[in-house]
Amino acid sequence: MRIGLAGVGRIGAFHAATLNAITEIDSLVLADAVPTRARDVAHALGVESVESPEALFGAGIDGLVIAAATDAHAPLILAGVDAGLPTFCEKPVAHDVDGTIAVLDKVSGVDIPVHIGFQRRYDAGYLTARAAVASGELGWVHTMRSGTLDPAPPSPEYIASSGGFFRDCSVHDFDSVRWVSGTEVREVYAVGANRGEEFFKEVGDIDTAAAVLTLGDGTIALVSGTRYNARGYDVRLEVLGSLDSLSVGLDERLPLRSAEPDVTFPNGTPYPAFMERFRAAYVAELTAFTDMVAGRASATCTVADALEAFYIAEACELSRIEHRPVLVDEVRR
Ligand SMILES: NC(=O)c1ccc[n+]([C@@H]2O[C@H](COP(=O)([O-])OP(=O)(O)OC[C@H]3O[C@@H](n4cnc5c(N)ncnc54)[C@H](O)[C@@H]3O)[C@@H](O)[C@H]2O)c1
Repeated sequence: MRIGLAGVGRIGAFHAATLNAITEIDSLVLADAVPTRARDVAHALGVESVESPEALFGAGIDGLVIAAATDAHAPLILAGVDAGLPTFCEKPVAHDVDGTIAVLDKVSGVDIPVHIGFQRRYDAGYLTARAAVASGELGWVHTMRSGTLDPAPPSPEYIASSGGFFRDCSVHDFDSVRWVSGTEVREVYAVGANRGEEFFKEVGDIDTAAAVLTLGDGTIALVSGTRYNARGYDVRLEVLGSLDSLSVGLDERLPLRSAEPDVTFPNGTPYPAFMERFRAAYVAELTAFTDMVAGRASATCTVADALEAFYIAEACELSRIEHRPVLVDEVRR
C-alpha cells in the first residue's frame, strides 16, 4: 500500500513517523506547502517526497492523509475524493460551518471513505468509557467532566488561524462527549477568560474556557480547557452514573499532584504533549485508516460527525460572546 501525506508540520511530521512504522504501508510519500519541510522529514525517515501537495495526486498513491494547516483541509479532501482516494483528514474539516457543509455535500453519497481524525475514539480509556455507558453498567449517567489542558500555547500564527479555543481545542471534548454518551448535545452555556499572552486577545481568542453542555437526555457535561497548564498535557474524561463512575486518563502520568498527606499518586512523569498522551491512539487510528484503504472498513468518524462537534463549538462561541445559553439548533443549518 502506498500512502501520501500532505502537511508535515507539528502533527504531520509525527504522523509521518507513525505511518512509516505501519507494516501494511509499503511506501510513503510526503508533501508540504513548504517543499524543504517535506524533503527534510522524508530524508530523516528514509521515505519519498514530492515538490508540492498537488504532485501527490500523480504519485500513484492508494490513500491520502491530510495533516496540513486547517485552510488546506477542505480543498485537499475534495481533491482526494475527486481522485477516488480513501482520505484521512485531521480535524477540523474547514474553518467554518459553510465550508464543512460544502465538503459534506460533496462526500455524501460518494462511496469513498473520508475519515476525520478525532483520535480519542481510538484511545483505550475512551473506548472503555463508551462501552461502559452502552452496557448500562454505570446506570444512568448524570454528569460528564471533560478537560483538555495544554501545557503551553502554540505559536501566535497557529492561534490566529485556529478558529478559536472552542473550534480548535474543545472540539475534541465535544466529539468525545457525544461519542462516549451516544447522545447529542442540546444546549450550551460557555465562558472564556484571557489572562495569558496578548496575542490571544489580538485575534479575539481566549486562553481558558469552560462550558456547561446539556445533552438530549438531561445529562450535564462540563467541559474545561486552557492553554496554560504548566504541569503537563492533561486530558481526562469522567463519566459519573447512578450505579458506578469511571475516569479516563487517571493514570500515573496524570499531570496533577495530590494535596492529601501520604498520597503519592500520581507519581509518573507528567505527559508533556498530545503526542505522548495519545501515541497509541494515533497508531490505532492510522492503522484503522489502512483498513479503509484496503477496502476492509468504512470511515467511523465521518464529516457529519465532525460537523456535529463543530456545531457545538459554534454554539459555545456564540454563548461566550452573547453571555447566554444557546441551543445547538440555533447554529445548525
Ligand atoms: N488531532 C489532534 O490531536 C491534532 C493535534 C494538532 C493539530 N491538529 C490539526 O492538524 C492540523 C495541523 O496542525 P499543526 O499543529 O501540525 O500545524 P503546523 O502549523 O505545525 O503545520 C502545518 C503544516 O501544513 C503545511 N501546509 C499548509 N498548507 C498546506 C497545503 N496546502 N498542503 C500541504 N501542506 C500545507 C505547512 O507548511 C505546515 O508545515 C491543524 O488543522 C490542526 O487542527 C490535530
